[in-house]
Amino acid sequence: MPEVNVGNASSFSDPGRKVFEVSGQEVGVFLLAGEFYAWENRCPHLDGPACQGRLLALATEAVNEDRTSRGREFSKEHMNIICPWHGMEFDIRTGRHPTNQAIRLRKVPLRVERGEIYVTLRGA
Ligand code: FES
Repeated sequence: MPEVNVGNASSFSDPGRKVFEVSGQEVGVFLLAGEFYAWENRCPHLDGPACQGRLLALATEAVNEDRTSRGREFSKEHMNIICPWHGMEFDIRTGRHPTNQAIRLRKVPLRVERGEIYVTLRGA
């Protein structure tokens, strides 16, 4: 399987993402809380470009003992990708749908060496 350099890690914002097309394969590379993740840019629903969708932070509501709200908080570590075609969500870190763990993006092996990001494509 060919390994491809897709650029320098310092070019990513955190959270951030870039989608690459290499040899006909599209890969979404994400940086979240200092960790990189890579997924095939094909939604398991109907093959939409899931990696190009909006990024949405997990929102939680902090509640006091008397059950009054302290307001909404947005996570900096839990974030979902929303497929732009029909709105399915996937956890950036696991690629899994939040409520149906059987539905998930296909992982692309990734490594960072000397500040460069390498992804391993499916066999040509
Ligand atoms: S193709 Fe992604 S939600 Fe339908």
